[in-house]
Amino acid sequence: MSAAEDRISEIMSEIYGSLPRQGPGSAASTRRAFSMLGALPERPLVLDIGCGTGAQTLELAKLTNGHITALDVFDWALDGVSRKASAEGMYERIHTTKQSMTEMGFQGKTFDLVWSEGALYIMGFENALNSCRFLLKPGGFLAASELCWFRDDPPDEARAFFRMCYPEMKTVTDNVQLINSSGYLLLGHFDLPDRDWWDDYYTPMSKLLPALREKYSTLPEALAVLDENEEEMEIHRKYSEWYGYEFFISRRPPDW
Ligand SMILES: C[S@@+](CC[C@H](N)C(=O)[O-])C[C@H]1O[C@@H](n2cnc3c(N)ncnc32)[C@H](O)[C@@H]1O
Repeated sequence: MSAAEDRISEIMSEIYGSLPRQGPGSAASTRRAFSMLGALPERPLVLDIGCGTGAQTLELAKLTNGHITALDVFDWALDGVSRKASAEGMYERIHTTKQSMTEMGFQGKTFDLVWSEGALYIMGFENALNSCRFLLKPGGFLAASELCWFRDDPPDEARAFFRMCYPEMKTVTDNVQLINSSGYLLLGHFDLPDRDWWDDYYTPMSKLLPALREKYSTLPEALAVLDENEEEMEIHRKYSEWYGYEFFISRRPPDW
């Protein structure tokens, strides 16, 4: 890693590592999505992709008696999961793996449940649906929140922002079609409420930013990361009516 990449990694760990979550979501939404799954085996094998510091990983460990593999690319995220797992006495049922979701090294048909909150956009939702189907046992479940357009008439500023950050972003209806055409049975879906963006994510982040601006005032690459976060929050303040996260709960058919 170059010195500049080191600094970016340090600031990302400082911003995101200290937040309760690394993206929109809540324990209530995790539980709601879980309640929409069908029956799982007594001790399911669960994969949590892009786990961050593990807010939903720990919730899943409470909701099942299973074994959870928490996958992320950053050490600071996986260290956070391990710390929480130890603190909650769940160390034996949660193990972390440092892998990119674009090159996951698991065998096909391994998991009863694949979970991912706010992370599959990194490989693109369509690509993710195919990768996750490969990893699921027949009859296994996929629960994932995905950034979607809620309306098909977004204002130019919002459209331009997401054209830059997530050009593949689709409407909820288009993602429902994609899930069906990717061979899944869709069990249900719901919008994350707006408080899921603020309570554990943007509000604590906005409290951190002034001190970080001061600390990194001479590092343009660090300030650029802070600027991006401020811009993202501003876009959300203005345009949350047009987009948000949709939680999709699907199943790989038992006979497929
Ligand atoms: C928006 S955060 C969501 C984190 C967590 N699921 C949550 O809701 O709090 C996306 C996560 O994906 C991770 N990530 C980024 N690129 C990745 C990759 N190529 N493979 C696996 N994880 C990745 C990030 O480190 C981050 O933890």
